[in-house]
Amino acid sequence: MPRKKKTSIPKTTKKRKRKVKRFQTVRGMRDILPDEQPYWQKLRKVIEKVAVDYNYRRIDFPIVESVELFERGTGMDTDIVDKEMYKFKTAGGDWVCLRPEGTPSVVRAYLQHGMRTWPKPVKLSYSGPMYRHDRPQEGRYREFYQCGFEALGEQDAILDAQMIQMAMRIFKLLKLKKVSLHLNSIGCEECRPSYNKLLISYLKNRKKSLCMDCKRRLKTNPLRVLDCKEEKCTQVVSQAPQTVDHLCGDCKKHFTTLLEYLDEIEIPYSLRPELVRGLDYYTKTVFEFFMEDENGSQAALGGGGRYDYLVEKLGGPSTPAVGFACGMDRIVNAMKNADTEPYQAPTPKVYLAQLGDVAKKKSLKIFEQLERSGIMVAESFGRGNLRSQLNQANKIKAEIVLIIGQREALDGSVILKDMNSGGQETLPFDKIIKEVKKRLKKNADMAKKIAQQERKKAQNLKKKKKKKK
Ligand code: HAM
Repeated sequence: MPRKKKTSIPKTTKKRKRKVKRFQTVRGMRDILPDEQPYWQKLRKVIEKVAVDYNYRRIDFPIVESVELFERGTGMDTDIVDKEMYKFKTAGGDWVCLRPEGTPSVVRAYLQHGMRTWPKPVKLSYSGPMYRHDRPQEGRYREFYQCGFEALGEQDAILDAQMIQMAMRIFKLLKLKKVSLHLNSIGCEECRPSYNKLLISYLKNRKKSLCMDCKRRLKTNPLRVLDCKEEKCTQVVSQAPQTVDHLCGDCKKHFTTLLEYLDEIEIPYSLRPELVRGLDYYTKTVFEFFMEDENGSQAALGGGGRYDYLVEKLGGPSTPAVGFACGMDRIVNAMKNADTEPYQAPTPKVYLAQLGDVAKKKSLKIFEQLERSGIMVAESFGRGNLRSQLNQANKIKAEIVLIIGQREALDGSVILKDMNSGGQETLPFDKIIKEVKKRLKKNADMAKKIAQQERKKAQNLKKKKKKKK
């Protein structure tokens, strides 16, 4: 009988490989990868600049806050609190949530840290992730980033105008055109109750034509019916009494003054009687910034308004306040469509190459010395081959390559190769920083000179062309 042939496959490979689960981000959350970061970096820089220019000081507050802060601050009947909050009970039995917005947290911090004794207005800015468990779609995420600005302790409408001015400045610096400002005033505790009565009686007569949510809102928060997006509700709302026609004297004056300020700084606005915003704390001014995307649909880039009673509602003294927040994810999307130049990080002009084990060890130290003296250096320490390292240096357009071979490592020197002239010389370690700095400065001065000459040439050409005409 022929003997059974033994297979030569090693035992280990005979076993079927167990599939290891690969993880994905959870629904509505995403990674922001390095390629996208230059847009974020640009946005952060612009936000920082505007915050500094308008005198806003940065505040960071926890991602986890107590549920009650938002129930009382944002409002029990708002979508954010009622439907979208990520909330859970801790092991200690406390109900906490992932912050869905920043305004109540800022007010909490304002009261907790005694900021009411600071000179007024207290101007604070923040940025970071917020969490809302809504249905994800284009431009709507469950984890999204907001930047916000809040000014506490001032009731003058000039602050409202300045908030709008700041937001517009951010959009302008990012080269976002066609951002429109929607504006409304929704009154105060003085005038809102009588307006609400009027609105309720108008809506009650048309209750059959309202969506289920609005039938409920009629009892809990009638103002919210005004900004319902359901077709049948918008029809009812189009004939409803408008808040601006029922403002008390103080609110009316505040609103007209704001409009005068906006006219003065030439910011166009569109008065929107249906704009009430979805959060409970607003009084008087409410505003929102919209931009049309490439499909023609409108995306809210940001919004805000006055919240004169929130500090009191959260246990503090009566303190008027105003603020706004922008959706950073949406702004980044808009930047990409608008061809905004992303941030360009400075690139290293020096490349450090090494050859051999001793040189490799030395190169770590030399890298640190160069970096400490303010010289940006590129390297690929993992590579041993000099040619591939020089190719890499060419790729990143390095002006100077420093090479440490076995011999240089032993006698404490470095080969300096000038990539522009092709020349090279060997220098002792302790001379290297001075020499690199000298050469980089020379190159920079030369580049500046050439740029100036070219600018002049272009100007002369323009002048000649004009003369010819
Ligand atoms: P908000 O209108 O709820 O206001 O949010 C502000 C902005 O955050 C929106 O205009 C939008 O750009 C962005 N945003 C909201 N939800 C999402 C989401 N799910 N995905 C992506 N972006 C989103 C507030 O949060 C108030 N705290 C603003 C404020 C500050 N009012 C006074 N001070």
